[in-house]
Amino acid sequence: MALVDVVVMAAGKGTRMKSSMPKVLHRLGGRALLQHVIDTASAIEARRVVVITGHGAEEVEASLQAQTGLQCVRQMPQLGTGHAMQQAVPVLSDDGITLVLSGDVPLIQADTLQALLSVCDGQHVALLSLQTNSPTGYGRLVRNAQGVVQAIVEEKDATPEQRLIQEIYSGIMAVPTRLLRGWLARLDNQNAQQEYYLTDVVKFAVADGCTVQAHCISQAWQVEGVNTPVQLASLERAYQHLQAQRFMNEGVRLADPARFDVRGTLSCGQDVEIDVNCVFEGEVHVGDGVRIGPNCFIANCSIQAGAVIHAFTHIDGEKLGVTVGEGASVGPFARLRPGAVLAAEVHIGNFVEVKNSTLAKGAKANHLAYVGDATVGERVNYGAGTITANYDGANKHRTIIEADVHIGSNSVLVAPVTIGAGGTVGAGSIITKSTEPGALTVARGKQTSMANYQRPVKNKK
Ligand code: UD1
Ligand code: MG
Repeated sequence: MALVDVVVMAAGKGTRMKSSMPKVLHRLGGRALLQHVIDTASAIEARRVVVITGHGAEEVEASLQAQTGLQCVRQMPQLGTGHAMQQAVPVLSDDGITLVLSGDVPLIQADTLQALLSVCDGQHVALLSLQTNSPTGYGRLVRNAQGVVQAIVEEKDATPEQRLIQEIYSGIMAVPTRLLRGWLARLDNQNAQQEYYLTDVVKFAVADGCTVQAHCISQAWQVEGVNTPVQLASLERAYQHLQAQRFMNEGVRLADPARFDVRGTLSCGQDVEIDVNCVFEGEVHVGDGVRIGPNCFIANCSIQAGAVIHAFTHIDGEKLGVTVGEGASVGPFARLRPGAVLAAEVHIGNFVEVKNSTLAKGAKANHLAYVGDATVGERVNYGAGTITANYDGANKHRTIIEADVHIGSNSVLVAPVTIGAGGTVGAGSIITKSTEPGALTVARGKQTSMANYQRPVKNKK
């Protein structure tokens, strides 16, 4: 088949979003609407992707800068979809098929586009249409008595009889570029909106004896556009529903597919269980047999086999990532920040924060603690309420806690400092100097008692 050049129309204003941000940059499933369309274009191995920008062009173009094989063409002013395509054809070559997509129709699926391209077959006009009982606002497909498509008529230009037609044009079409070029040159704006309509190419195709075929689908969400925050939320749900189905089909056990959100890429091993209201962002990998409790936020991390994440845990590895080792236990109410690396069987309990620290196999910090810029050895017991004082107001320093150390509750380890292997720190200590292996170190006020102490009493008036 002929090579495919995708043109994504993204010059429209998006007034009804009532936002200062260009519409196509609003996010769905953690990705810009336009990015969904571009990713789908790359899934069908388009030769070229041309994005037509207009309103908010600078911002939209800046968002695409890092991406290769992509070209932006500006449409100033915006005189209609046909006018938009007129700006794009100079960068397209005649040997290909032009596939027209909309930057605000994010959920079109690659297999649907493949089917449309097969209908086009490098020689016909292929229109993606939808059978719907709420056609209002859309262009209607007008067919003759033999059922052959004759034209697309916009709502505002349609006769009352044409408005009854329930097959609408989705805004997506595939056309041989050499033919499209000629038809676009013949467009005019003699219509209700005084716009250059791309849809008028259908009339020209029919007049020139070129076959026009519709590929009609029934899944409205694939061709639904985002014009308002309500539509954005509704497509977000459709997208999350699709993902939930996909994960469950792969064996992931979701407590409730309606309360599960993936705003990035999640990969799951076998026998993964995810309770309600969990949100996944960025790149997350979850190994075999992992259980995730309710109400967790999990971003940019790898959770290895058999680990358990208890309710209300917050994990975000940002750029550095977070690793939760095999069989580890995290939460409830724990927070793992960038650079937290937990080896196998580590326990992180409630109200414990870990940042840029490694905890070796079997280390435990079970209650109310901060572990920052620390290297924690195997089997260390990090007492309740203990803090690494890692920041002197200007620089960060490391704390090294060697294997088998026991840190008593409510201690402060003032970095840089090393606690020697097997050592013990008495509860309530403020450790400012490194300690020897095997030593007990206590650094706090000595306990004294006064026998038979009498508390003061109130003066009588
Ligand atoms: C268009 C179709 C209509 C179809 C509907 C599907 C035309 C004339 N009509 O109508 O048949 O049912 O989509 O949603 O094509 N855009 C530009 N430059 C412009 C105008 C629009 O880039 O000058 C972009 C918009 O950003 C949007 C897309 O083209 O991504 C569609 O434009 P829109 O104004 O929404 O067209 P509709 O009137 O909805
Ligand atoms: Mg529209």
